[in-house]
Amino acid sequence: MNLGIKSVDKQAIAGAFGKAASKYDSVAKLQQQTGEYLMELVQMESSGARVLDAGCGTGFFSARWKQQGKQVIALDLASGMLSHAQGQQAADYYLQGDIEHLGLADCSVDICFSNLAVQWCNDLPGALQEFYRVTRPGGLIVFSTLAQGSLCELEAAWQRVDDYQHVNQFLPLQAIAHACQPYRHKVMERQYCQHYPQLLPLLNSLKGIGATHLHHGRQRGLMTRKRLHALADAYPRHNGNYPLSYQIIFGVIYCDK
Ligand SMILES: C[S@@+](CC[C@H](N)C(=O)[O-])C[C@H]1O[C@@H](n2cnc3c(N)ncnc32)[C@H](O)[C@@H]1O
Repeated sequence: MNLGIKSVDKQAIAGAFGKAASKYDSVAKLQQQTGEYLMELVQMESSGARVLDAGCGTGFFSARWKQQGKQVIALDLASGMLSHAQGQQAADYYLQGDIEHLGLADCSVDICFSNLAVQWCNDLPGALQEFYRVTRPGGLIVFSTLAQGSLCELEAAWQRVDDYQHVNQFLPLQAIAHACQPYRHKVMERQYCQHYPQLLPLLNSLKGIGATHLHHGRQRGLMTRKRLHALADAYPRHNGNYPLSYQIIFGVIYCDK
């Protein structure tokens, strides 16, 4: 069983996301869809006032929570993301920090909300333990994350071009469900697919959301015109478009402590 423990370079992740901050909201359409769904999950189950937006990015959802009258702590690893959020006055408090070692007191929030951030953590069970620790009894934790099968078209196309690993490996659903096992929880899986008329905008969309950092090893080889053509030739098409699939897992954890 893959227990959800891997080795990530946090500085590189913070750097990649920090660089993406200014353009992030214009390309992060998937994040906006999954985040809206996560918000709906909370609204069905909790009316608490203090929200932690863990891995807040530009603060897009911190601001959505604030508009709803919540008191919001925006937390992110990337200072570039956090200063963007602060510039937008997205939250009430801003905290640069790591989800895996939250600088917050036990039981200090009612709702812990984390949209598409924990896939960048080393240890998913450890990250969920931290969420559970800082959430008060009776509170709610909701998170979304990428699972195995995400970006499968891109991975398959690269495999036809060279032998390097170009695409991050994400945890299988079973490992994510296993990490939720210690708690009363619900796990849901949804597939999203985006279609691009050309390959370059597809690759730029990944770069734009800072998702090009690899968990293991470095990006291999420069993207020359020749490699781009080879990748486009190898890429599976759907009605002339380039599809890109995401397997998204949504988790709800009830703080019964
Ligand atoms: C894909 S973005 C999602 C941003 C935001 N939640 C949204 O919905 O737009 C992932 C964010 O998680 C942050 N992140 C990654 N690993 C983190 C960690 N260990 N602790 C805190 N933030 C982290 C990144 O810096 C980035 O801003």
